[in-house]
Amino acid sequence: MAIFLCTTLPFLPLTTSFNSSKSTLSSILTNTTARYHFSTIAMNSFTTTTSASSSSMQYVPEQDSNEMERVANLTFQRYTSNSTKRSGKGTAIVWFRNDLRVLDNEALYKAWLSSQTLLPVYCVDPRLFATTYHFGFQKTGALRAQFVLECLADLRKNLMNRGLNLLIQLGKPEDIIPSLAKAYGAHTVYAQKETCSEELNVERSVSRCLQQVGVSSDESAGDARTSNSDPKLQFVWGTTMYHRDDLPFDVTCLPDVYTQFRKTVEAKCAVRSSIKLPSSLGPSPPIEDWGCLPSLEQLGLCSQNVSKGMKFVGGETAGLSRIYDYFWKKDLIKVYKETRNGMLGSDYSTKFSPWLASGSLSPRLIHDEVKRYENERQANSSTYWVLFELIWRDYFRFLSVKYGNLLFHIGIDCSKSLMPLMFFSVLA
Ligand SMILES: *[C@@H]1O[C@H](CO)[C@@H](O)[C@H](O)[C@H]1NC(C)=O
Ligand SMILES: *[C@@H]1O[C@H](CO)[C@@H](O)[C@H](O)[C@H]1NC(C)=O
Ligand SMILES: *[C@@H]1O[C@H](CO)[C@@H](O)[C@H](O)[C@H]1NC(C)=O
Ligand SMILES: *[C@@H]1O[C@H](CO)[C@@H](O)[C@H](O)[C@H]1NC(C)=O
Ligand SMILES: *[C@@H]1O[C@H](CO)[C@@H](O)[C@H](O)[C@H]1NC(C)=O
Ligand SMILES: *[C@@H]1O[C@H](CO)[C@@H](O)[C@H](O)[C@H]1NC(C)=O
Repeated sequence: MAIFLCTTLPFLPLTTSFNSSKSTLSSILTNTTARYHFSTIAMNSFTTTTSASSSSMQYVPEQDSNEMERVANLTFQRYTSNSTKRSGKGTAIVWFRNDLRVLDNEALYKAWLSSQTLLPVYCVDPRLFATTYHFGFQKTGALRAQFVLECLADLRKNLMNRGLNLLIQLGKPEDIIPSLAKAYGAHTVYAQKETCSEELNVERSVSRCLQQVGVSSDESAGDARTSNSDPKLQFVWGTTMYHRDDLPFDVTCLPDVYTQFRKTVEAKCAVRSSIKLPSSLGPSPPIEDWGCLPSLEQLGLCSQNVSKGMKFVGGETAGLSRIYDYFWKKDLIKVYKETRNGMLGSDYSTKFSPWLASGSLSPRLIHDEVKRYENERQANSSTYWVLFELIWRDYFRFLSVKYGNLLFHIGIDCSKSLMPLMFFSVLA
């Protein structure tokens, strides 16, 4: 969970300057001289502390693919239940976004419940591989793209184990989703709700285009709906540990101080348990060509070998294996609070960030596993601290709902105090 280093910032001697308004990171980011100085300090301190391990590369998680699959299968079993009865009609689509997982995926679950036939889709959106509007930075580098491709391959495999598949299409969701909805007569498209502007723009475009493709009654087989009804677009909350609907305040009234937020949610809400899916989610509509994963070259990227540091393996199977590794096999969660700000190797902290960011791990499932560890082995402030950091993660997600694009502005009152943290989340 190093993504939110929230208390001490171990490798940067800049911590003290956060206290003075003159050298907040906001000003550092706008001041070339200071920025140069800043990155020099950061780099020097980084290379010194990592030199010991600079010659080796570690896979995270460490298991080979067969062992990962074995571990993931056990976890899939633990979070599977056949007791829910499917009551829906017709066809539903589940449009995967940053929720590339099977377990505790509410959009997938609701789509399954509401239908007789389920079509899972992922759109490889070229905009994610373009450059930023300002400065022309690449939005997705080769390593992250590789990670996402691994997530997709793994998602497809895990869906196939449950009687489905994953349709992979290259193009914009607003072009692809409505035409699939029309072709397969889907009554509803389920997707995870996002909160930031680019994702919200895509949501609006998909919604607009869906309204233009009425599904006529003879296309929606078995569904007694009137002709030319539009397929509905239903968003499902799924990115945080505490559910947005369970917050004891409207998210627009979110406290501007983290501790206040944490104390309130800890006192007044419970984390929902993760959703248990049935072992079979099929069938899906008959499709001849489920689509291939693009290569990095097709995405305009050159493959990059990792020869130093850590190589994160993409996908839910790997994410679940990392939980197993860190919690159960190596028993490291019991010292997490003491080691989490270290820099050497993969074991000082959970390293869940890449799987959380792609949605291949659900924070609620991590919560369930922490509780299981606390019941079966031991609970202390280290085990709690993993949840503490997940609450930080929730907090930033809810802040993005409250503040929208202001979150990314420099020098706005509300974001001033957040800038350092936002910035370090990128470094970690
Ligand atoms: C922050 O600044 C105040 C006043 O300038 C000072 O009293 C306090 O000790 C400083 N805190 C830290 C952690 O440096
Ligand atoms: C930029 O940073 C340098 C080094 O910290 C500092 O001396 C200078 O006053 C800063 N300039 C501005 C405009 O803040
Ligand atoms: C994991 O489960 C799938 C089916 O659900 C099975 O095909 C596969 O062989 C299992 N893998 C291992 C290593 O047990
Ligand atoms: C669910 O049903 C499948 C097939 O009927 C069975 O193999 C599996 O063990 C069941 N799982 C649970 C958790 O009951
Ligand atoms: C990456 O490593 C593989 C296998 O070691 C090698 O074949 C390939 O040329 C390397 N690619 C780059 C870009 O270095
Ligand atoms: C938690 O318990 C473990 C094992 O008993 C111990 O080594 C560790 O120091 C404890 N951590 C904290 C933060 O209490």
